[in-house]
Amino acid sequence: MSKAWRGLALIGALLLGSCATQAPSQPGVLHPEIWPRSESPIARDPAIEARVALLLEQMSVEQKVGQIIQADMASVTPEDVRRYHLGSVLNGGNSGPNGDDRALAPAWLAMADAYYDASMDVAPGRPAIPIMWGSDAVHGNSNIIGATIFPHNIGLGATRNRALLQRIGEITAKELRVVGGDWTFAPTIAVVRDDRWGRIYEGYSEEPEIVRSFAGAIIEGIQGRPGDADFLRGPHVLATAKHFLGDGGTDGGRDQGDNLYPETEFRDLFGSAYPPAIEAGVQTVMTSYNSWFGVKSTGNRVLLNDVLIDRFGFDGFVIDDWNAHGQVPGCTATSCAAAINAGVDMLMAPESWRGLYANTLAQVRAGDISMARLDEAVGRILRVKLRAGLFEAGRPSSRAYAGQWAMLGAAEHRAVARQAVRESLVLLKNDGGVLPLAPNLRVLVAGEGADDLGMQTGGWTISWQGDGNSRADFPNGETIFEAIRARVSAGGGSAVLSVDGSFEQTPDVAIVVFGERPYAEFRGDVATLDYQPDDARDLRLLQSLQARGVPVVSIFLSGRPMYVTPELNASNAFIAAWLPGSEAGGVADLLFSDGSFDFTGKLSFSWPRAPDQTPLNVGDRNYDPLFPFGYGLTYRDRRELGRLSEVSASAGASPLDVYFAEGRAQQGLKLSLASAEGTPIDIGAAAISTPGLAFSRIDRARQEDALLLRWSGAAAARLSLNGRQLDLTRQAGAGMSLVLQVRVDQAPAAPVLLGVGCGEACRGVVDVSATLARAEGRGWMGLALPLTCLGARGAQLDSVLEQLVLESGGALSLAVSDVRITRTEAEQECAGALTP
Ligand code: BGC
Ligand code: BGC
Repeated sequence: MSKAWRGLALIGALLLGSCATQAPSQPGVLHPEIWPRSESPIARDPAIEARVALLLEQMSVEQKVGQIIQADMASVTPEDVRRYHLGSVLNGGNSGPNGDDRALAPAWLAMADAYYDASMDVAPGRPAIPIMWGSDAVHGNSNIIGATIFPHNIGLGATRNRALLQRIGEITAKELRVVGGDWTFAPTIAVVRDDRWGRIYEGYSEEPEIVRSFAGAIIEGIQGRPGDADFLRGPHVLATAKHFLGDGGTDGGRDQGDNLYPETEFRDLFGSAYPPAIEAGVQTVMTSYNSWFGVKSTGNRVLLNDVLIDRFGFDGFVIDDWNAHGQVPGCTATSCAAAINAGVDMLMAPESWRGLYANTLAQVRAGDISMARLDEAVGRILRVKLRAGLFEAGRPSSRAYAGQWAMLGAAEHRAVARQAVRESLVLLKNDGGVLPLAPNLRVLVAGEGADDLGMQTGGWTISWQGDGNSRADFPNGETIFEAIRARVSAGGGSAVLSVDGSFEQTPDVAIVVFGERPYAEFRGDVATLDYQPDDARDLRLLQSLQARGVPVVSIFLSGRPMYVTPELNASNAFIAAWLPGSEAGGVADLLFSDGSFDFTGKLSFSWPRAPDQTPLNVGDRNYDPLFPFGYGLTYRDRRELGRLSEVSASAGASPLDVYFAEGRAQQGLKLSLASAEGTPIDIGAAAISTPGLAFSRIDRARQEDALLLRWSGAAAARLSLNGRQLDLTRQAGAGMSLVLQVRVDQAPAAPVLLGVGCGEACRGVVDVSATLARAEGRGWMGLALPLTCLGARGAQLDSVLEQLVLESGGALSLAVSDVRITRTEAEQECAGALTP
């Protein structure tokens, strides 16, 4: 929906809201009666209900409070689980057994046993409640080295194949069972409307019908079929439908943002996959970080109770997202009666669990949370644990499939992943019928993604953001280059890997694999869909190959459709390969077809013709994509794209963590200068100075969009950005850096401290003088400082009060044009790294 249209809808809604009979479109107020009804297929079992009632009688209030809390394994020991009776543990994206995210499979199973044993060790007279371990097995059991890694959901959307989705669910569950897992936080059934959102690839489609049709299939694969003897047990585990509700529709595609669709669209776009998920028997639902007209889902009682339970008939338990309760008004991560009272049954309290336990216990004792509500929450959790047979299952290592290591990445599983890759690839261009290739050609394989399993698998793979993954982390996988090489060497051809595209002997064809580097959650949010806005190096690679007369086949790895028209123009054939996972054989199957395979993948997201053409969704008025929803060529198509018209690109940084740009402090921050003892002076429009430091405005790209700072050396003085308290821990965990654009006119004569501040005697700064000296006279450059270094130097990153501190006592002449928190490809250098 366009901004203008949304604005109109809002005004309309406000007008209608004043007239009682038309209440349904008043923003922020839900009307459960207009939401559809559905029903859980699992009848309440009297035997289970009797056991729930008995357990509730026997449990102490401490046990009950512990039962509704889930802690992250990085912050909880088995001894803690025993002592606080915690109901669940998770491994967050960066956590693993004994602090090792890359621990091998046996260590995970041993850890599952240790937590289980602790949960079963209770005081005499109290019931033992087995713990559950939850994991983001979102594209296969994707935290575990050696597991089969399937394409991310965006690729699966292109397959349109429900039966395949079911198989993928089954395999993921089995590979979880191997390491003792009980529960996956999947599937994400977001309907993603704005491609700027960094989680777009976790969604199957922009179109609710695809998501609706997949939800039940994947859930039945993961959990088994209600009524079957192996439902939730044996090869199956618990699934989670997430994130409830409206995650894919936030304004501007901002992660954790505000969804501003009118209620009917909120229901029909974002809500409509939940009934099929519930009808397939999904046992848990995760609340979303986002809000709807300012009301956080995690604290929205009408949404969680009246819609999810009463209308949709959900009969499992509700878990919130990672400390999402801390964002509910009046709450913190360690205290939130409001979320529990709103209907959250289990709180995901990774490191906050200890404080949350104490505060929740006190709130129950004080009556802020009624015993009835606590019993309801605990009862829902116990019911799910009983349905899953956990009370009788024994130690995780004693259960079916546990310890069958050969099942991780088993040939049979990888064959299904390979099929998924084949069916997910979308052929966007094949001019001159350059594809399929004969396998006896001399093939040059180029591009950063050609031999890189990290790029192939994306975020939520082994590590949270998908950073730092190497070949060795995928003992069972294959890179695209390896798959191509295997194919052509069998076919009498040859394949040479040359990432930069250089060659001595002219190849018959170049296959260039390039695309986005891995990201997850907010780190993947972008301002525009422009691919490589700052540095079109892949375009240059494609153009240089074409200029030398080599036909180019591009394979684009990405979590989203992007504006790549120049790259399309510089390619003879172009394949959207999404994030295909570990089985690149599926790519080779299509490239070198011997007649057995053809492309079947069809876009489940509309492809933009301009960097700012978003939101762009099928059904829009004036829908005018470059490639429409449903597009995808086959070898039989003879469509020639020819030269497509390119549009000029716009600036491409994430709007989220930009602190200074266009000559102004952003996001309500202000700039100030301060000398060692003087009070800070805020920088207004004019040039000012403080002892030791003079400031004026200069032009970089536009009038007065940069600052010129001249330290005289007469006194220590600093520039600072301040005025708001910000929590930068997630950004630090995501490997992001503080990055400034600088031009060093005169190298520093003394140490220059750069970093962030967090109040009296609290800051994290690093001496960057040597790095600045290297930049002298070299024009504008980026200067990147990893946030983790600032944390290690003493900054309290959860309460940053000065987003920039730049201080020196010596002479220095420095221009600054831009300050932001972002990811860079620079080395994580604590002395600061220069970036182009
Ligand atoms: C994500 C969830 C995920 C959870 C646990 C959150 O940040 O939003 O999708 O399941 O972390 O890792
Ligand atoms: C965890 C993720 C989580 C994220 C949210 C990370 O440290 O590993 O699972 O989603 O934090 O803040």
